[in-house]
Amino acid sequence: MNLLVTGGCGFIGSHYVRYRLTHHPGDRVVNLDALTYSGNLANLEDIADRPNYRFVRGSICDRALVESLCRSERIDAIVNFAAHTHVDRSILDASPFVETNIGGTLTLLDVARALQIPRYVQVSTDEVYGALTADDPPTDERAPLAPNSPYAASKAAADLMVRAYHVTYGVPAVVTRCTNNYGPCQFPEKLIPLMVINALNDKPLPVYGDGRYVRDWIYVVDHCEGIDLALQKGRPGEIYNFGASNERVNLEIIERILDYLNKPRSLIQYVKDRPGHDRRYALNSGKARAELGWSPRHDFYAALEATIQWYVEHRAWWEAVMTGEYQKYYDAWYGGR
Ligand code: DAU
Repeated sequence: MNLLVTGGCGFIGSHYVRYRLTHHPGDRVVNLDALTYSGNLANLEDIADRPNYRFVRGSICDRALVESLCRSERIDAIVNFAAHTHVDRSILDASPFVETNIGGTLTLLDVARALQIPRYVQVSTDEVYGALTADDPPTDERAPLAPNSPYAASKAAADLMVRAYHVTYGVPAVVTRCTNNYGPCQFPEKLIPLMVINALNDKPLPVYGDGRYVRDWIYVVDHCEGIDLALQKGRPGEIYNFGASNERVNLEIIERILDYLNKPRSLIQYVKDRPGHDRRYALNSGKARAELGWSPRHDFYAALEATIQWYVEHRAWWEAVMTGEYQKYYDAWYGGR
């Protein structure tokens, strides 16, 4: 099978490229990535020389490029990871989210339609469902969409476009929605890597609000396995949720990080909350388990500790990504909090 993986130099995308090439060594993977601030060639250094892997720098908004790649590489499936993904950045400026997440998805769908590509997977998020209260059951695929951040709204809009292209034009697309991922190579704007790196640098750990917000955490490789199963077995037009039933309040995770690194709790600094901050996410993955035969394999605390240890051992990786752009963002977002 020839795959076009978009956003394959990002956190989840790079794990997926490696997963696919490891589990389907006869496949060819073309990785189209614009290398914006969070895309990093170093994430795939170990597989960059494989003859069945090709990296192309470019945007999913570039219709001519996407179409010529799909034609010349005889692409059988598109798996779309390319997106702006950080909620706080979308609060500072929503326009790149609209352009890439909605506009880029539309471009991919148009090419999938024009070339009749046999498979399309849209990698989405639980954030499209909006917040749960403490008593709500985990969300299943029938729940209404209620995105609360500009990021979540852009992902919901893209999901709806995928649905429309399936219903209207018969594009054989599936949508996957996942909970919060963690693992090596996650950009240090997200909770876990940011807290680990700040702790390693003895800098304050900025906790939003009361720190009692709940997220449902999944190890990134478990997510990749789900996406791969959705690609192989998912029914066109369907949505599949992936969550590992690991609901944790933020403070619990932050305290674990401090304890693992032997750093004092006094590094915790409560800061002004994120506006529109969703209190809780949790997904019901019964459909993925029943239809795809998927289940997460990684134990939360073991995989969390392995992730923290990865950052301890890869200082050069994170120092290289914390460039001027990162500092500018950090100051703009955390400066006034
Ligand atoms: O739920 C899936 C989503 O998870 C993905 O679609 C998004 O791309 C991803 O960014 C993530 O969204 P969250 O907003 O949940 O992740 P984040 O790591 O930004 O924040 C996790 C929780 O930690 C959230 O309650 C906000 C809190 N937080 C985060 C940061 C960065 C803090 O208290 N302080 C911080 O500095």
